[in-house]
Amino acid sequence: MIPEHIAFIMDGNGRWAERRHLPRKYGHKMGTEALKRTIRNCAEIGVKFVTFYAFSTENWNRPKDEVDYLFDMFRRFFDEIDQYRDKSYRIVFIGNLSELPTDVSENALRIMKETEGNTGLTILIGMNYGSWEEITQAVNRLLSKGITSVTKEQIAEELYTKVAPFPDLVIRTGGEVRLSNFLLLQSAYAELLFTKVLWPDFNKKTLIKCIEEFESRSRKFGGLEDKNAKT
Ligand code: FPP
Repeated sequence: MIPEHIAFIMDGNGRWAERRHLPRKYGHKMGTEALKRTIRNCAEIGVKFVTFYAFSTENWNRPKDEVDYLFDMFRRFFDEIDQYRDKSYRIVFIGNLSELPTDVSENALRIMKETEGNTGLTILIGMNYGSWEEITQAVNRLLSKGITSVTKEQIAEELYTKVAPFPDLVIRTGGEVRLSNFLLLQSAYAELLFTKVLWPDFNKKTLIKCIEEFESRSRKFGGLEDKNAKT
């Protein structure tokens, strides 16, 4: 069964560039191409929701010029967004947008609003996203409504990702084997897949290989029935 929702931790941009004696920024440029390619490939394959971890709450610790370059990549991506609108894709930016440069957060909010009613592929992009920040905000919002005891449904309803079902598959490229504060609650029952492929090299062939690996896993969600079994 094709996963309904795939989430990507796009790691390895810097190493991809360093191995070619190129500036790290060039890795992010090629990483942006890989992101756009992956959006196209996921749509073609029939995935309904994709999430990308583009900038984490911890990425502010990088040198300022690398952070600024990543924001420039976001700006360029915004400029190309018309092609997604035409395809009826919905774009949702997840994370604490208020801390981003004003033009970035304003454009992100505008694009979300403009694509809100679209029913095609839903693309979630983590920008200043971190699970701990997301959960803290969710709890504080519930407290501000006067709620003193919360249910798991109420928490889920306050998560940035509430427009999407929880991911079936989380793919991390670049060889590290950890989640790095990404979708910690949402990944409770996701299949986790770690590949040594560096993000700029991620292509349709590697995506299909990941989906085949996903399909080979049994998914019982704590029960006995394998929900991934072919009938
Ligand atoms: C991790 O690689 C990657 C990032 C911190 C940034 C990911 C961002 C993009 C692919 C850019 C574009 C996003 C949009 C929405 C246009 P790394 O630099 O940590 O790699 P390394 O571990 O090899 O150093």
